[in-house]
Amino acid sequence: MDQSDVGDDLANILLTEEQLRERLSELASRIDADYAGKDLLLVGVLKGAIMVMADLARHLHSSVTMDWMAVSSYGSGTKSSGVVRILKDLDSDLTGRHVLIVEDIIDSGLTLSWLVSNLRSRGPASVEVAAMLRKPDAAKVDVDVRYVGFEIPNEFVVGYGLDYDEKYRNLPFVATLAPHVYGG
Ligand code: IMP
Ligand code: MG
Repeated sequence: MDQSDVGDDLANILLTEEQLRERLSELASRIDADYAGKDLLLVGVLKGAIMVMADLARHLHSSVTMDWMAVSSYGSGTKSSGVVRILKDLDSDLTGRHVLIVEDIIDSGLTLSWLVSNLRSRGPASVEVAAMLRKPDAAKVDVDVRYVGFEIPNEFVVGYGLDYDEKYRNLPFVATLAPHVYGG
């Protein structure tokens, strides 16, 4: 899927496929070095993190295991509800494991801060976070994110896994949505 497939739904392309790929390759090198000699479990947060997870994992030289969790903090709108629900829990036992949470985007940071404390309570050796995108409001929540792809402005974005009302996830780049799409 590309820009030509979505008519005038997009306002601006913020990050191209190329930029995303280069940045993920840099993050992967750091992750390989930081976890050298350790078993790493990547925990992808569904559904937004599917693209980041798939691409990041393929850039890594280390052999990792992957698991998935689905949580919900958004309805069909563009504002965080602040309420986090587990829709799908992990299959893995985290006891003694080095865990890296792989996230698409950190906006309010509410989801992530809840997730980090939830996973830390399961007895892992470590829990760190890799997020492709981070918005400025995330600074208000005290979550240490070790790997960040890009800092982006406080705008609603879609593509590369991110949706608006479950659409646009399969765009290969990150773009802002035209206001008419969400009634702005
Ligand atoms: P937070 O709890 O506000 O940090 O946001 C949690 C989740 O909301 C993210 O993991 C995304 O799935 C979703 N989200 C936040 N901002 C955006 C956006 O700009 N576009 C699409 N989804 C978003
Ligand atoms: Mg997410």
